[in-house]
Amino acid sequence: MVPLKTFEEISEIAEAGKILSRVMAQITMEAKIGASLKFLDKLAETLIRKAGGEPAFLNYKPDGAKNPYGASICASLNEVIVHGFPNERKLESGDVLKLDFGVFYKGFYADAATTILIGRVSGTARLLVQATAKALEQALKKCKAGKTLGDIGFEIERTAKKFGFKVVKGLTGHGIGRELHEEPTIYNFGEKRKGLKLEPGMVLAIEPMLTAGSDEIIQLADESWATKDGSLSAHFEHTVAITKEGYLVLTN
Ligand code: MF3
Ligand code: CO
Repeated sequence: MVPLKTFEEISEIAEAGKILSRVMAQITMEAKIGASLKFLDKLAETLIRKAGGEPAFLNYKPDGAKNPYGASICASLNEVIVHGFPNERKLESGDVLKLDFGVFYKGFYADAATTILIGRVSGTARLLVQATAKALEQALKKCKAGKTLGDIGFEIERTAKKFGFKVVKGLTGHGIGRELHEEPTIYNFGEKRKGLKLEPGMVLAIEPMLTAGSDEIIQLADESWATKDGSLSAHFEHTVAITKEGYLVLTN
């Protein structure tokens, strides 16, 4: 069952989203050559708590994971797509850094991710990030009552292909609200007019993940997910509410 949210509930999720987007902006500014992933994580935790929220990922146990997650954000470098653990590794010129944030505030969750280019990066990296951001932007245009999850997935994959990239099929977006992960599962591919119909009150975490090489994935020792062939990946995510008029991005 896909839980529908009232206007009040959507406003609450937007409060969590506001904390999230502010902290994300601050951490993005600190993501410079020489900064360690662990430093970014600790700073994010401090800032989220200062704003009255809680880091949603800390101690969260994702489906299929052996252990609860031991940090506040995910920091995934280069071939790592998601769930990268913020360790002592320092950022270097050429890195493609994916930061994923979850905030819990007054009973509700918000979830968003961004990809940051560190120093001088390759042309492919630049284009991949541009394509992934565009895929999310295009997906948002399909966020209207009456459209379907298939329309969203189709649009994401169409955008990826247009740029010459692939979507990661084994990782998905999700509903969000009183839980971090709710129904429905949101695939980054699909068929037009197929799948669940969007309704006002749905709140969705839409998260295109693209790769510059093969779309096959492997799980690493820290339980992060990476491309099997070591190719670069990018990830953007927003928490979005479907309304009567269209959609609201709750994490900006
Ligand atoms: N942000 C991830 C998602 O969108 C969830 C991270 S799970 C954790 O599904 F393990 F990092 F906590
Ligand atoms: Co998510």
